[in-house]
Amino acid sequence: MVTSTLEQLCILYTDLTYEDIGRLEEVASTLQLYADMSDSYMFIDCKIKDNDHAIVVAEAFPRNANNIYENSVVGKIVFESFEPGVFYSYKNGKKSIIRQAITQEGKSVDQTVVPIKNKCHQVIGVLIQEKEVTPKTLQDDSYQEADLSIVPARNGEFLASTVGGPPVVSDLLMEMLILTDAKDHLIYSNPVALKFISEMSRTEAVANEKITDLLPFLKPVYDNKEDVFVFDLTIDRKSLVVKKIRLKKKDRGETLLIIQDLTELRMKEKELMMKSVVIQEIHHRVKNNLQTIASLLRLQMRGLPEDSQASFEDTLNRIYSISSVYEIILAKERADDDDVNIIELTRKICSAMVLNDVRSKVDLIIQPNGNKIITSSRKAVSLAIIVNELVQNSLKHAFAKEGEGEIRIWFTSDRDFLELHISDNGVGMKEPKPSLGTEIVHNLVTNDLNGEFLYVPQEEGTHAVVTFPVSPEVEIFYEKKDFDSRG
Ligand SMILES: Nc1ncnc2c1ncn2[C@@H]1O[C@H](COP(=O)(O)OP(=O)(O)O)[C@@H](O)[C@H]1O
Ligand SMILES: [Mg+2]
Repeated sequence: MVTSTLEQLCILYTDLTYEDIGRLEEVASTLQLYADMSDSYMFIDCKIKDNDHAIVVAEAFPRNANNIYENSVVGKIVFESFEPGVFYSYKNGKKSIIRQAITQEGKSVDQTVVPIKNKCHQVIGVLIQEKEVTPKTLQDDSYQEADLSIVPARNGEFLASTVGGPPVVSDLLMEMLILTDAKDHLIYSNPVALKFISEMSRTEAVANEKITDLLPFLKPVYDNKEDVFVFDLTIDRKSLVVKKIRLKKKDRGETLLIIQDLTELRMKEKELMMKSVVIQEIHHRVKNNLQTIASLLRLQMRGLPEDSQASFEDTLNRIYSISSVYEIILAKERADDDDVNIIELTRKICSAMVLNDVRSKVDLIIQPNGNKIITSSRKAVSLAIIVNELVQNSLKHAFAKEGEGEIRIWFTSDRDFLELHISDNGVGMKEPKPSLGTEIVHNLVTNDLNGEFLYVPQEEGTHAVVTFPVSPEVEIFYEKKDFDSRG
């Protein structure tokens, strides 16, 4: 099947549905028309899943114009700090107009952004119109100077030394500013940056030195081909955010780096996270609140017809599975970490379920395969609901009322991926109608676990597989040495 670039990018980078993508395709099909009619540049940007950036999925340039965009920008990442209008419209669902915006490509434009919504009124993308500001302003020299509030080096004079004179703006900034020439040699840095470079490189004379020799960790920043990019770097326990901008003015090929040191901020964040007493208390409250909700539901379901009761039972089971996560965390000795052992969690959820299901004589077998899987509480909640839904389905749909059967749960893993398998030897899925349960599982697997959910064919019964990546939030510890650890 031929898919458009827009569709491919949306599938790869966003969590939009096919219907949403269809809607975007509709809008995209009219872009060229608008571009020609209004003599402006049109774009559609969509928010990337799992991070705070956006991506350009469609564009149209006016024909018969001196293009301010040399190359296509489709597929390019858009950062909030550079394109605030785009993110304003995204977050607020409102129109934004910015006069003389400087785009990520360093062009001066009047930019109008309107949100694109789907049938359910969700913002699924933004439509951007950019009209070039008259070239006269751009070529004006005074404009160019004002655009960059730093003092470039002249006649071998290095750095904005302000002794005796009034401080320039860049001297007062907390951010480090570093300007390098076409060969990546240092031609300017503000005082904080100078201090940083000297400290990190243990060199005093840094002027005109090659920056990637002084600070080798900046190499990926310079190797990156994009004109504008934001990097998160961790060096010597320092957390840095590096914004790189290639300045194309007068073809001098300079690169400006703006570096923020977030180390202290990150440390404070961590300290806050470690406030174990508070966390413990919150876990208690979450668990108690879940129990209150469950009791309220139980009260409400009394006297209802049987099929309504079944829906209530489904919901109650979901609540119990979430609450199991908190029970496990609270039972731990160390109060400050909220990691959850997934095998333990699976056992807890399943044993409660089979006990409650008095009708059937079903065996439930959990095989940890010799590994211990530890996840953050956030991922554990998703996994709890997923296990609950899939095992419930086996109990509910696979076996006859008085029938016997077997449900097996096991985990396999390699270096990068973890697989959760749930299979039964029941009747198998015959023309299933996707319903709330499978929808919940699919959404949690793709959105929260970043993984994939599917049923694999098998001769007897049903076999569901959830595959998701190993990450700092999902760790595997091999307890048995002979365990097959491929890779
Ligand atoms: N293990 C299973 N064995 C047989 N049929 C199943 C199994 N799991 C799911 N199904 C079928 O898939 C359908 C959709 O499941 P689901 O979305 O969880 O909805 P629900 O469980 O509320 O019916 C079920 O109604 C059932 O027909
Ligand atoms: Mg179900």
